[in-house]
Amino acid sequence: MSAPVGQSRQSETEYAAEYAPGANPAEPQFWQLPAAARAAAFARLRALDHPVFCTDPRTGKGFHALVRHADVVEASRNPAVFVSAPGVTTPEPARWVRALFGDSMVNLDDPRHADLRRIVSRAFTPRLVARVEDDIRQVAARIVDDVLEQRPADFVPAVAAELPYQVICNMMGVPERQRREILRQINHASEHTGVARSRLRVPGRGLRALARMQGVIAALGRERRRHPADDLISALVTADVDGRRLDSRQLGAFFSLLLVAGVETTRNALAHGLYLLTTHPEQRALLVSDLDTHLGGAVEEIVRHATPIIQFRRTLAVDHELSGARLAKGDKVVLFFGAANRDETVFADPDAFDITRSPNPHLGFGGGGPHFCLGAYLARQEMKVLLRELLTRLPDIRSVGEPDLVPSNFDNRVRSLRFAFTPPTG
Ligand code: HEM
Repeated sequence: MSAPVGQSRQSETEYAAEYAPGANPAEPQFWQLPAAARAAAFARLRALDHPVFCTDPRTGKGFHALVRHADVVEASRNPAVFVSAPGVTTPEPARWVRALFGDSMVNLDDPRHADLRRIVSRAFTPRLVARVEDDIRQVAARIVDDVLEQRPADFVPAVAAELPYQVICNMMGVPERQRREILRQINHASEHTGVARSRLRVPGRGLRALARMQGVIAALGRERRRHPADDLISALVTADVDGRRLDSRQLGAFFSLLLVAGVETTRNALAHGLYLLTTHPEQRALLVSDLDTHLGGAVEEIVRHATPIIQFRRTLAVDHELSGARLAKGDKVVLFFGAANRDETVFADPDAFDITRSPNPHLGFGGGGPHFCLGAYLARQEMKVLLRELLTRLPDIRSVGEPDLVPSNFDNRVRSLRFAFTPPTG
């Protein structure tokens, strides 16, 4: 409970409601508000001198909203107090989902989390990612070739989603035929799961699609265990020197996590990136004037400004005091990465899009600690390579109109973004 020391839970709830009417991120309708209204609400919450407890009036349940940079960092780096089980998403995954698909590493704590992370990190060291860099370049070049040939209207499926999906599939060693099948199942699943879903509703068709996708991956895992190849699936399903490996269910859970954590996030970052560069022509001019100097800063600033993952949750393992709020064992806290990325005590002029911001200690990849984004290095490489390819070969590429955003309390998702460019002559 986040009442300032000495206050009761009830008076804190009343205080929050009175102090910031309409600014309650525990209410589903909050996430339907325009982005500016949500940002203003988070600014008001940040201005309070302690975290606030937000209650969902439908359920009477709630969480302490961590909106300041320092609070998100502290909770992220103290996993003994702020644990990830039983889940980091709100609402938390239903028990049957976990029973069916196995636990995803984001929802686990040590020692199970450390064990899993040790196995899967084999694929994400900068050295190994450097090996896939050539591959990223080839995929990016092919995407631009296809754009030139097919002139698609929507940047999201043609470019932003295509790059991270193909890169993950290449790393995992998913054959071409299965890629299309998996993509079909994912699209199917995301059409049938929504933001305001109730925990009790079984998203029947979406669930079946997910199960089919996991089936495809599990079959690949079994095949690679018999005939290992030089790819990530083989590395994950064959034992290392200590005898550790993933079983089929864990492999399926990990692949699903990569699709959400690695593909959706990067896709949304890239789509927001094109929009931000289009709507900030002076920043774009600076970027293209010297790509080598500014590309890294531009990628960091896109991730800060867009913050593809809005929030993750933790649960209190013990009573704890954080920034003047008393948190009780069992309480939930929500780490609002996007709100922390606009913390005016850390970022000067936080709403500005400034590719030269330095330092830029944003929390777009998490606040540090054991769950810090495993794919941060890979994501940065993908974004740099694709932006370089686009800005070099399609120099006037730009978004057209506003992005079609999907209301969500979880990710800053772009459904579609129209775009245009002048094809090169000759
Ligand atoms: C711009 C793109 C990306 C963003 C904004 C992003 C953001 C995040 C965030 C906020 C977390 C949670 C951190 C925490 O709780 O402390 C996370 C975790 C994770 N990310 Fe990323 N991510 C991105 C790309 C990727 C990519 C490309 C991959 C892999 C291919 C990836 C794999 C993961 C995994 C496996 C975790 C869970 C780590 C754990 O629980 O130990 N992410 N990411």
